[in-house]
Amino acid sequence: MRKTFIAGNWKMNMLPAEASAFIEELAGKLGNYSDARVMVAPPFTSIPSAADVIKGTGILLGAQNMSDEEAGAHTGEVSPLMLKDLGVDVVILGHSERRMIYGENDAFINRKVKLALKHGFEVILCVGETLEERESGKVEAVVEEQLTGGLNEISEESLASITIAYEPVWAIGTGKTATPEDADNVHAFIRKIIDKLYSSSAAEEIVIQYGGSVKPENSAELMAKENIDGALVGGASLKVDSFFGIINYAKA
Ligand code: PGA
Repeated sequence: MRKTFIAGNWKMNMLPAEASAFIEELAGKLGNYSDARVMVAPPFTSIPSAADVIKGTGILLGAQNMSDEEAGAHTGEVSPLMLKDLGVDVVILGHSERRMIYGENDAFINRKVKLALKHGFEVILCVGETLEERESGKVEAVVEEQLTGGLNEISEESLASITIAYEPVWAIGTGKTATPEDADNVHAFIRKIIDKLYSSSAAEEIVIQYGGSVKPENSAELMAKENIDGALVGGASLKVDSFFGIINYAKA
């Protein structure tokens, strides 16, 4: 049985005091809610203050990126050892902004995935096509390449610590959402690839989030789809009310 997983990616927003206030308010609203796993990923500089208040709330602490090395001469990078020390549970890897703005490719992302697993983190591995790729009929080819590359040499056993986030690049921060049917079709295709790379039980068990302009108004219909198991939320995760509305979609 796949458990719904709703994750907030705060991107380059939220000062330390804002992060801790957000988490306290969200935890208060969630109470002992347990229908979904919930995560927030603050920017690195707000992780310590988030970590102080997140303990005992049941909310998972995420990081938005991680170095592919443990230590050394890597100016500007953040090591898995540093994130572990702060109590981070989950790292988001391969986000399209990392791929497109900072040039991360599948081999590089794969090194990070392996290192994250080595240090006991869960991973959210993001995949998704650009508008140009969608319009030229390359959705499946792109998603397959990103999955195959990102999961290279990852064992089926480790797959239990990986969530896939399908985020069509053209739907991120644009207000355009893939229709629930379109998203569900790609999610079904992702299961097909996981079946091919691993097994049918791995395909059945893997949690696949949808990301791209998810908001309280569209979360219920997205989550109702058979292959959509949660959401990776950017803009709408920055306000407690809208993030809680997405988490609480069944009652929205
Ligand atoms: P968005 O971002 O919800 O603002 O579209 C999603 C993401 O980039 O993870």
